[in-house]
Amino acid sequence: MERFSVEAFQDKIFCFSSEKGRDFPWRRTRDRYAVMVSEIMLQQTQAERVAPRFMQWIGRFPDVTSLASASLREVLQLWSGLGYNARGQRLQLAAARIVERHGGKVPGDPLILADLPGIGPYTSRSIPVFADNLDVAAIDTNIRRVLIHELGLPEGISPSGLRSIAEEVLPKGRSRDWHNALMDYGALELTSRKTGIAPLTRQSPFKGSRRWYRGRLLRDLLSSGPMPMEGLVERYADCPYGIGTIVEALVREGLAEMYEEGRIIGIAGSAEPGLQQDLR
Ligand code: ADE
Repeated sequence: MERFSVEAFQDKIFCFSSEKGRDFPWRRTRDRYAVMVSEIMLQQTQAERVAPRFMQWIGRFPDVTSLASASLREVLQLWSGLGYNARGQRLQLAAARIVERHGGKVPGDPLILADLPGIGPYTSRSIPVFADNLDVAAIDTNIRRVLIHELGLPEGISPSGLRSIAEEVLPKGRSRDWHNALMDYGALELTSRKTGIAPLTRQSPFKGSRRWYRGRLLRDLLSSGPMPMEGLVERYADCPYGIGTIVEALVREGLAEMYEEGRIIGIAGSAEPGLQQDLR
């Protein structure tokens, strides 16, 4: 079997990006915290939609400490619209852990990063790639598609097999530019539609799914403050799963809290002293 030419592949990708490469605010920073924020926001949300939200976030939480000490309510409010609220919560949990265990400095070692909440195999590598230009391969959906298509690999290739090929074609010393270029090529030129290579993860929740109800409920609690369970049951009478099970899951995950023996539901940590009287 004829094997691909590493050099021709690198030339093709860099050539494309020198003409059509995109500019994003997170590509202009080397700050590991800012890169971490952007990478977590970008996990399931399109880059164009992330850009303004990233700027807003960095304006409000410019560093690990400011994020770690914020209320969950404010974190979720700033996250709203990005989807998957638990990602916002986990980002804050990661910040708290970084303050506790790493002196407030985001670690640069993928193995240490992988131990933080919300940071998986891809993100643990992409943070040092973009912040520090570290020579490791980070493979997201776009990059996977580009590698499979351009190098003629089988779609069912194992993650570790794909990773070793990604390491082999990585131009050493140019990791940051290379990963940005691969992403641009995948997003602009070699789209999923063009190749027919399906992404491994799914996008936004479909209407009426559990996740969709979760999102709606959290938005309600954020905008109106704590609500009586009875009111929620009425409001979500159409929820086929029973809104109670959704509330329970949110409570279990630390996103929501119950007060007054389960009669009142709110965003975790949002009960102020005196709230109980106010609600009566
Ligand atoms: N998706 C994940 N990381 C990205 C980046 N740095 N630029 C564009 N899209 C991305």
